[in-house]
Amino acid sequence: MTLVHAIETTAIFTATIAGIPIVLLIIYIIYHNIHNRSLFSKINLPAPKGGNFLSGDVDFSRDFLQWGAQLKRELGSIAKIRIFHFPVIYLSEPEEAKAVFSTFNLPKGSMYTELATLFGVHGLVTLDHGPHSKWKSQRALLNQAFKVSAIRTLQGIFDRHSQAFADRLESMADQEIDFAKESSLLTLSIISETIGVEHESGEFVNSVIAIVSQLGSPLLSFPYGGYILRYVLYRRQMTTIDSFIYKMIYEKMNDRKQGKLAPSNGSMLDILVDAEDEETGQKFTAEEIRDHLFTFFIAGHETTANTLSWFAYCVATNPDIEQKVFDEIDAVDFPVEHDSLRRLTYVQSCLNEILRMYPPVVSLTREVTSPYKLVTTPDITLPPSVTIMTSIFGMHRDERFWDEPEKFDPSRWKNGDAVEHSHVYMPFSAGPRICIGKNFFYAEATTIVTAMLKRVRFELVPGVKDNGLVSTHSGILKPKVIKVYVRKRF
Ligand code: HEM
Repeated sequence: MTLVHAIETTAIFTATIAGIPIVLLIIYIIYHNIHNRSLFSKINLPAPKGGNFLSGDVDFSRDFLQWGAQLKRELGSIAKIRIFHFPVIYLSEPEEAKAVFSTFNLPKGSMYTELATLFGVHGLVTLDHGPHSKWKSQRALLNQAFKVSAIRTLQGIFDRHSQAFADRLESMADQEIDFAKESSLLTLSIISETIGVEHESGEFVNSVIAIVSQLGSPLLSFPYGGYILRYVLYRRQMTTIDSFIYKMIYEKMNDRKQGKLAPSNGSMLDILVDAEDEETGQKFTAEEIRDHLFTFFIAGHETTANTLSWFAYCVATNPDIEQKVFDEIDAVDFPVEHDSLRRLTYVQSCLNEILRMYPPVVSLTREVTSPYKLVTTPDITLPPSVTIMTSIFGMHRDERFWDEPEKFDPSRWKNGDAVEHSHVYMPFSAGPRICIGKNFFYAEATTIVTAMLKRVRFELVPGVKDNGLVSTHSGILKPKVIKVYVRKRF
């Protein structure tokens, strides 16, 4: 065989191997396009015109939120759309949302399966809640780490980090800072300490940040996308994270086995290693603990950091509201007692209003696996393999339910209470799968806001491109940038 011949043969072989996944992907997309057309023909709901073979009805020239708003204007609050190859019922109708989130008959579906491959198959967010799933028992055991008494134990951690953050901000007085970056580092260090991994290396932190940034990866919409992210593209980061967390877990488990009952410091690692089902005596395995802790990192760090960034932005741009916040927090001492946090009702109202206008999780999906009747139009039954996507953002900005929905107005929340709006307000989801970290979030965020705004105030830096604008590229709603000047209050 000549050299040229050998090179030709190798090139053909390589092209064939590389071409196989592309051919498989094309067959996959064609199959789904045909399947979707037949599914949609049976569902009597409005649909957008146009669309294409690859992206379905998705309009890449627009931001996801603008596109959703346009769909709602043109098609109403329940429509059938194609997102890539997924047949989706896109809804922002509170009665439907309530029904969707209260039933156990709608599993989380294939997008969560890919997320689970990336984050760990035992993690609470991605565990399914079908008849034989272990979600219920895992959630019951995990409740021990999130009950009020456990969160009260964490107050010292919230206070200490918040105080250090306020010191840091004061030391940067009159400087321009990237608040989103600062708040992200803050919530990462708080969640690290509450989990029990506070002495993490820089490499560990960078790896977590890199993985969190993949939440919105389009790869997660395709079979094996989670696998490719976890085992190919982000293998190094996942290895760093795994080896670090497992080391902590095994050390703690060994201590327990050897009877070294080091006093529990109230960290989630401690609580999870010790947790035991009262009836069955069942305990978490090391793999389950790893996946739960990592899920807390993912679910609890950026959501909170973004909300704090919007807080800084909202007080910087609304002097009247800023003054009301100052008046309230100046009336309490710092460090705050956990039980005093409830008295900060105006801060709570601001947090509620921020989560209404900027919910980090803009939409949630569930998959239809057996015929599902819509509650508001019972003559429509959705066939299996359709995905229901509930637009939380759509409901939060709907003028049928909110006066001047585009206006930031904390006074719409009476005494910080969200109950009055519970049917249209669901930044934490709703029903049995509602966010387990909700009380953790309110305690943490209220403490941080109190500590920092007792000492400093913020002014938006003029002329910065995209300052305070919304981005949804990472899969969760966040500010594109929040650049502020820090000013000492006294
Ligand atoms: C602003 C703050 C937060 C928001 C807006 C938020 C939002 C949500 C939403 C929408 C869900 C439902 C997800 C789904 O069904 O796919 C959820 C679930 C969850 N969240 Fe949060 N979250 C926040 C803070 C936290 C914190 C601080 C933690 C933990 C430290 C946490 C842990 C979890 C967990 C473990 C679940 C899964 C619950 C289950 O399925 O049983 N979250 N969260």
